[in-house]
Amino acid sequence: MTRPTSRRRMAPQTLTSDDEGNCIMARRKTIRDIHQLYADQTPITMVTAYDFTFARLVEKAALDIILIGDSLGNVIQGHDTTVPVEVDDIIYHTRAVIRGNRSAHILSDLPFMSYQASAEDGLRNAGRLLKEGGAQAVKLEGGESLCPMVHRMVEAGIPVVGHLGLTPQSVHAFGGYRVQGRDDAAAERLLADARALQDAGIYMLVLEMVPAELAHRVTELLSIPTIGIGAGNQTSGQVLVIQDLLGMNTDFQPRFVKRFAHLEDTIVDALSAYGDEVQSRAFPDDDHAY
Ligand code: KIV
Repeated sequence: MTRPTSRRRMAPQTLTSDDEGNCIMARRKTIRDIHQLYADQTPITMVTAYDFTFARLVEKAALDIILIGDSLGNVIQGHDTTVPVEVDDIIYHTRAVIRGNRSAHILSDLPFMSYQASAEDGLRNAGRLLKEGGAQAVKLEGGESLCPMVHRMVEAGIPVVGHLGLTPQSVHAFGGYRVQGRDDAAAERLLADARALQDAGIYMLVLEMVPAELAHRVTELLSIPTIGIGAGNQTSGQVLVIQDLLGMNTDFQPRFVKRFAHLEDTIVDALSAYGDEVQSRAFPDDDHAY
């Protein structure tokens, strides 16, 4: 029998009890809980998920935040970029995730062109992610130029997360997926963007593919949590795409991805075994028939 890890022991139950012995539903983490983790200097655990089944497993692992990322364009829809993803796609997947997980903080991406054309678009689409999807917060990509819109969202009661460094929605402007902020000017720009976004009211900042030292400087500069992906280990937390960390796509191995499992092999072996048993009529046997 495998020993439960401390993380597993901490996993919330459906029903729990309060100090007076009343039954209460397990509570979803809020931005206050995320800020408390930050204040306690407890690294924040974030992972993407896009459906009920994986969201349920994330609850069992008691991770803090689920991001319904526009990376679903890659890993769910099979596109080369996140550019084709629509607001309706994010809403659909956010709803599925929420049905599978009652404890994680739920953050949904605003996809490409859902906020770039006007602040009104941004406000309306961010509102849709909360009202129709059930997200608790939205994430958008970009720096200082977005600050007036971010401010309006926050004023309207929509918690916002920023995303700097490699911002995949701008892949065509970058000419590929490359590390950002390598030279002094780019590093200074990123620091200024981070500060401006914080001043506009974001409660957390994702840093993607930036040198570890720069991510550390941003984290020191800000008084809100930073979440890194390919940004070293001095950020306030980490995020990975769930299929990447589970080793479900061996064709994709950027340096920042660590595979904590090798499910591609496990799944292919299981599917092959199923195929073999169907063909040999070994399955279904008497134990699996009525
Ligand atoms: O869409 C996504 O999965 C993301 C993470 C890579 C941060 O934005």
